[in-house]
Amino acid sequence: MEHPAHTPLLVLVGFMGAGKTTVGRLLAQQLHCPFHDLDVEIERVHGAIPKLFETYGESGFRAIEHHAADQLLPRLPRPAVLSLGGGAFLQPANRDLIRQHGGVTIFLDAPWEVVFARVRHTGEHRPLARDPAALRRLFDLRRPLYLEADHTFSSAEHDPANLLTSLVRLAEELGARGQHRATL
Ligand code: S3P
Repeated sequence: MEHPAHTPLLVLVGFMGAGKTTVGRLLAQQLHCPFHDLDVEIERVHGAIPKLFETYGESGFRAIEHHAADQLLPRLPRPAVLSLGGGAFLQPANRDLIRQHGGVTIFLDAPWEVVFARVRHTGEHRPLARDPAALRRLFDLRRPLYLEADHTFSSAEHDPANLLTSLVRLAEELGARGQHRATL
């Protein structure tokens, strides 16, 4: 499906607990465009993520995740906001897909202390957040890769108002203001 260059697909990436889903939903509201969450799509089609990790291991989950992205990306209207699970952007095949569909990647950069406070008790839903030491190693390993996103914004504050303002400004620079955006 062809999309005009002025109607962006904004793809939020970053570590677990960086605020991708919360901020993504708010951003889509402000832009009057649809919000999609790849994890929600995966769970809708394949069932609960912890169960997928249990049954197929992480590599099996990554294959399902890629398949879900491959199915979802061509169907997204423009503009749209898409939030990815924390590991999705690190897979080269997913990056290729995003590029192929003209997605603009935005890294929500939250410090370790912030993400740890947010995810430390969510191990039941986030298999990779169960072991704090392993989680910290993952954080350090992944951060340089997230920094390869097209844009980086700090996501450290409790109140995402400032972050949202910056994201709306970026979206408008990229051309997201349009028929979907009724008010400022
Ligand atoms: C993962 C993050 C999770 C989910 C899965 C794997 C990761 O999404 O996709 O548990 O590898 O960081 P969130 O980033 O939304 O928690």
